[in-house]
Amino acid sequence: MKVTIRSFREAESDIRFVRDIVFGQEQNVAREVDWDGKDSQSIQVVAIDGDDNPVGTGRMQPDGKIGRLSVLDSWRGQGIGQKMLRVLVETAEKKGFQEVFLHAQVHAASFYEKCGFHKNGEEFLEAGIPHVKMTRNMSKI
Ligand SMILES: CC(C)(COP(=O)(O)OP(=O)(O)OC[C@H]1O[C@@H](n2cnc3c(N)ncnc32)[C@H](O)[C@@H]1OP(=O)(O)O)[C@@H](O)C(=O)NCCC(=O)NCCS
Repeated sequence: MKVTIRSFREAESDIRFVRDIVFGQEQNVAREVDWDGKDSQSIQVVAIDGDDNPVGTGRMQPDGKIGRLSVLDSWRGQGIGQKMLRVLVETAEKKGFQEVFLHAQVHAASFYEKCGFHKNGEEFLEAGIPHVKMTRNMSKI
């Protein structure tokens, strides 16, 4: 298992493969909502298995917003999601971000809390799914 920072240009097919399955097929998120045009300007993280097949991905936008964190169903519960999140947070830290944030699906909030994120505000609907804003302050690593 390798988790690396990639550009959207070089890893686009791997990223599309994972997100189309997880958000498109599994969660029924509309294509135009998932593919919002913000990928090329984002830092992307991709997890690949021993045969170079993509199994997970995520991104961080220039304003420090982390999102689209996804792991193929059969690969979940093995720490891949946490590892990708950690790599994105470390990258933000190296780039001098004071804070990163995300809109977590409510069911996944405890997943982000394990990596130092805290809930921030009320729940809201995004793509028809309940979300909550969560932030992580870099000075508190
Ligand atoms: C959320 C997701 C990325 C987590 O990836 P993963 O590789 O399974 O996560 P990890 O194995 O690194 O999990 C680490 C910990 O978080 C917990 N966890 C994982 N998913 C969770 C969830 N949905 N709710 C609560 N806890 C969760 C795990 O139990 C594990 O706990 P442990 O360390 O005490 O055993 C993955 O479940 C996924 O792709 N879900 C569908 C897409 C999605 O909902 N993305 C989140 C958008 S906000």
